[in-house]
Amino acid sequence: MGWSVLPCFVHHCFTLLLLLIIHTSSSYTFSSPLLPLCNHEDSSNLLQFKNSFVVNTSLYQDWWWQQPGVLCSSYSKTASWKNGTDCCLWDGVTCDTTSGHVIGLDLSCGMLEGELNPNSTLFHLTHLQQLNLANNDFCASQLSSRIGDLVALTHLNLSNSGFGGDIPSTISHLSQLLSLDLSRSDMLNEKGYRKLRFDPSTWNKLILNTTNNWQELVLDEGNFPIGILSLPNLQELTLSDNVELKVKLPKSNWSTPLRILDLTDTILSGEIPDSICHLKSLKQLLLGSCQFEGSVPLSLWNLTGLTDLALTENTLHGEIPSLLSNLKHLINLDLSSNSFSGHILDVFANLTKLESVAFESNRLGGQLPPSLFHLTQLSDLSLSANNLEGPIPSKVPKLSKLNLFYLDHNLLNGTIPNWCYSLSSLTNMDLSNNKLVGPVGEFSTYSMDTLSLSNNKLQASNNNFTGNVSSTFCNASSLSALILSHNHLSGMIPQCLGTALSLSVLDLQVNNFHGSIPTNFSQSNQFQTIKLNGNQLEDPLPKSLANCTSLEVLDLAENNIEDVFPSCLEMLQELQVLSLRANKFHGTITSFRAEHPFPKLRIFDVSNNKFSGPLPTSLFENFEGMKDLSDSTHHPPALSYMSSSRSGLAYNDSVVVTMKGEFIELVRILTTFTTIDLSNNMFDGEIPYVIGELTSLKGLNLSHNKISGIIPQTLGNLTSLEWLDLSWNQLKGEIPVSLTNLNFLAVLNLSENQLEGMIPTGKQFNTFENGSYIGNQMLCGFPLSKSCNNDEEQPPSSILHQKEESLFGWKSVAAGYGCGMVFGMFLGRLFIKTARPLWLARLLCGYTY
Ligand SMILES: *[C@@H]1O[C@H](CO)[C@@H](O)[C@H](O)[C@H]1NC(C)=O
Ligand SMILES: *[C@@H]1O[C@H](CO)[C@@H](O)[C@H](O)[C@H]1NC(C)=O
Ligand SMILES: *[C@@H]1O[C@H](CO)[C@@H](O)[C@H](O)[C@H]1NC(C)=O
Ligand SMILES: *[C@@H]1O[C@H](CO)[C@@H](O)[C@H](O)[C@H]1NC(C)=O
Ligand SMILES: *[C@@H]1O[C@H](CO)[C@@H](O)[C@H](O)[C@H]1NC(C)=O
Ligand SMILES: *[C@@H]1O[C@H](CO)[C@@H](O)[C@H](O)[C@H]1NC(C)=O
Ligand SMILES: *[C@@H]1O[C@H](CO)[C@@H](O)[C@H](O)[C@H]1NC(C)=O
Ligand SMILES: *[C@@H]1O[C@H](CO)[C@@H](O)[C@H](O)[C@H]1NC(C)=O
Ligand SMILES: *[C@@H]1O[C@H](CO)[C@@H](O)[C@H](O)[C@H]1NC(C)=O
Ligand SMILES: *[C@@H]1O[C@H](CO)[C@@H](O)[C@H](O)[C@H]1NC(C)=O
Ligand SMILES: *[C@@H]1O[C@H](CO)[C@@H](O)[C@H](O)[C@H]1NC(C)=O
Ligand SMILES: *[C@@H]1O[C@H](CO)[C@@H](O)[C@H](O)[C@H]1NC(C)=O
Repeated sequence: MGWSVLPCFVHHCFTLLLLLIIHTSSSYTFSSPLLPLCNHEDSSNLLQFKNSFVVNTSLYQDWWWQQPGVLCSSYSKTASWKNGTDCCLWDGVTCDTTSGHVIGLDLSCGMLEGELNPNSTLFHLTHLQQLNLANNDFCASQLSSRIGDLVALTHLNLSNSGFGGDIPSTISHLSQLLSLDLSRSDMLNEKGYRKLRFDPSTWNKLILNTTNNWQELVLDEGNFPIGILSLPNLQELTLSDNVELKVKLPKSNWSTPLRILDLTDTILSGEIPDSICHLKSLKQLLLGSCQFEGSVPLSLWNLTGLTDLALTENTLHGEIPSLLSNLKHLINLDLSSNSFSGHILDVFANLTKLESVAFESNRLGGQLPPSLFHLTQLSDLSLSANNLEGPIPSKVPKLSKLNLFYLDHNLLNGTIPNWCYSLSSLTNMDLSNNKLVGPVGEFSTYSMDTLSLSNNKLQASNNNFTGNVSSTFCNASSLSALILSHNHLSGMIPQCLGTALSLSVLDLQVNNFHGSIPTNFSQSNQFQTIKLNGNQLEDPLPKSLANCTSLEVLDLAENNIEDVFPSCLEMLQELQVLSLRANKFHGTITSFRAEHPFPKLRIFDVSNNKFSGPLPTSLFENFEGMKDLSDSTHHPPALSYMSSSRSGLAYNDSVVVTMKGEFIELVRILTTFTTIDLSNNMFDGEIPYVIGELTSLKGLNLSHNKISGIIPQTLGNLTSLEWLDLSWNQLKGEIPVSLTNLNFLAVLNLSENQLEGMIPTGKQFNTFENGSYIGNQMLCGFPLSKSCNNDEEQPPSSILHQKEESLFGWKSVAAGYGCGMVFGMFLGRLFIKTARPLWLARLLCGYTY
């Protein structure tokens, strides 16, 4: 698996922030003295030191002590420290065998809790050579300048010990230092502690006083000490996850033995200096996500020893020169996510070791360079999201290791060459969003995980995409996403896809498939998304769809399916989107078996069919997914999108809905998006009042049916509603005043019914135009030109009640305001609310009192 695709492989995902290793050998061990003879003063100092702290036996229970790399056992080292016993035998203490002085103190994981004060007797232990206080809690103590008294120190380890603030400049007195670990000072920040900060001048003084000694240095963030890269023996500098570290690369005096320079995810900014070419020994240069800009210096291509070069996610521009061919040892090359332009030159012939090449998300044009496809070691190739054109090379050697193959989002044309179907190691292939034509051939590789060929111009009247072709995709036992949408594919959908146990996304939308959807979905299938909309399927839905228990999205819109409502789907506990729009479904919609049908359904679209009978009350009652979403413990946070988690393609679900009267493709379905569309059918009977319980509903369209009765008051409870279309029915009675509660209602269509009485006023109702009401002979009042005569205008008391709160209600109008100054005032305020001042003028003056 190549590192270009999974960044973690580059960044090594460990949390030590800066690791510098000089390979001169030395070890860091505490040896037991042969003749323990404890120095009396040291013993007393140790005891006083111990007594200045609490030993907290539950210290390591908080999560920041449970991180990888912090492994503390629950035993107290200082428990063995007793007055009157030989301190050289105490846990963690090492003495010099001749003088009896304490020279080593390892109190890592000592359970110590408390401040380390400047008057601490620790600083009297001036013979100390090795001091490890890692993994204790020094309660944000400032490290005392008296640390500089311990001039014999060769090893100092304060990792994860809860020190904070500036490192004292006296640390530069420690001229013997070989190893310094100040890492993980961020962990105890969880407690609100300040981080340790290494002042650059302090750092420089330390380096000057200690040059050549360094073995290891583990630091946290802050300003990068420029001197590090000039240390004469430095061979490896690795850095990761250090997004706050500001680094400056030297213009000269590089550490020439450097073999590995990994500054991924640091803040370098500016340009890569020419002088980088001084690093003649460099094998790995990893400068991804460093905020570099400008062009890559030509001298970089002189680093002929490079095996790994990553410049991904910077804003580098310019062309990739033919000098790239110098880097004959390259194994991994990642120039992705920059602004490189020009052509990808045909210079790969000698780069025979390349295993991973990533150029995606640049501005590269021209044709695919043939030599790139002759790299037989290639495992990952991503050229996605460029402007590459022309055909995919048709004759290539056996790319038996090609695993990830991404050419999507380019301008490639021609057919899919045969070799693409027989890549024995292929798991992910994305050729989508190109201009590929011709048939989709038969895959003889069964290792596939995701395949996307969508948004091309693939055709295959004479392809093998017919019912009896089982081997094509079905035998790819690990295929999890098959995306062939938006092509010109015809024939039958292979039946065996229903038994493909690994498939979670089947997206064949907008093609010319006919016949049936797969009829034999097996019990343990993984389907989350099935989108077959926009084809010419005609056969009834198979009962085995009920086996798709993980299904979240089923979109069968715009086919010719002739069937009754698939009640078997109500068992699907995960189903969120069901669209049967524009088919030939007929009969009544009733719930049969399930106790809680469609519990998670949020988009229910059966519009443009031939359904008849009463509206499906029993379903409305149970659409729990459309009821109050404000209960955040049971629902995802607002503004999350549906996506298929299993698919490596980060596949986003989309669906076409009619929203506010227009067809809109929701490319990413908000998990808060809820609609019911039953329009253009032959439903009759009344609107059930229970619909008022679906309080998260954003859109309701019951238009073009034969619905009779009144509009239920309870519709006023749908306070999230943004569009409501009840037009072209046989609704009677008055428009319920409760609808004025719908503060988000932007589109209202009640036209072509038999409604009567006065149109309610106030709030959103002041913004709807004639078109919302026409075709109701007995309606009157604003915005219709027909005014209500006095007798009928006595509003029902409930209306009066409602109106009192509104900005200008019936009461104020009835009290006889004219179209004068007072109205001017109202208009000013209302203008802000509705941006419709003229309407209001008409509204207010339309009433004659
Ligand atoms: C000991 O440490 C635990 C966990 O870090 C902490 O919750 C507790 O307050 C500490 N006890 C004392 C006496 O400080
Ligand atoms: C150790 O014990 C001696 C004699 O009992 C006593 O004088 C001394 O103060 C003790 N030291 C500490 C640090 O408790
Ligand atoms: C050391 O200093 C701290 C605070 O500065 C003080 O509370 C403590 O009493 C001092 N200890 C001794 C032994 O002087
Ligand atoms: C510092 O101490 C911790 C805990 O004992 C240890 O994991 C780490 O490796 C030490 N650092 C160095 C540079 O030895
Ligand atoms: C360098 O180390 C020596 C020995 O510890 C010390 O005396 C001197 O002050 C240090 N120099 C600096 C600049 O810290
Ligand atoms: C580079 O090293 C030389 C010799 O050690 C020194 O004179 C010069 O000042 C250094 N240059 C920089 C920019 O540090
Ligand atoms: C690259 O190296 C060659 C040979 O060492 C040298 O002639 C050339 O100037 C170098 N190019 C750059 C841009 O540094
Ligand atoms: C590959 O190497 C050969 C021999 O060193 C050389 O002649 C040829 O120009 C190189 N090809 C490329 C594309 O650099
Ligand atoms: C493919 O694209 C290239 C360059 O855009 C064009 O010259 C060529 O005619 C196209 N070929 C086909 C078969 O469309
Ligand atoms: C269709 O399948 C047959 C036999 O499996 C094969 O000979 C033929 O080449 C295939 N056609 C296409 C277009 O892949
Ligand atoms: C579900 O799948 C099993 C086989 O896996 C099949 O026997 C059963 O008939 C299917 N259920 C339905 C409702 O078709
Ligand atoms: C729903 O609306 C009706 C009539 O408008 C009202 O009586 C009822 O209290 C409302 N229910 C809720 C839960 O708001």
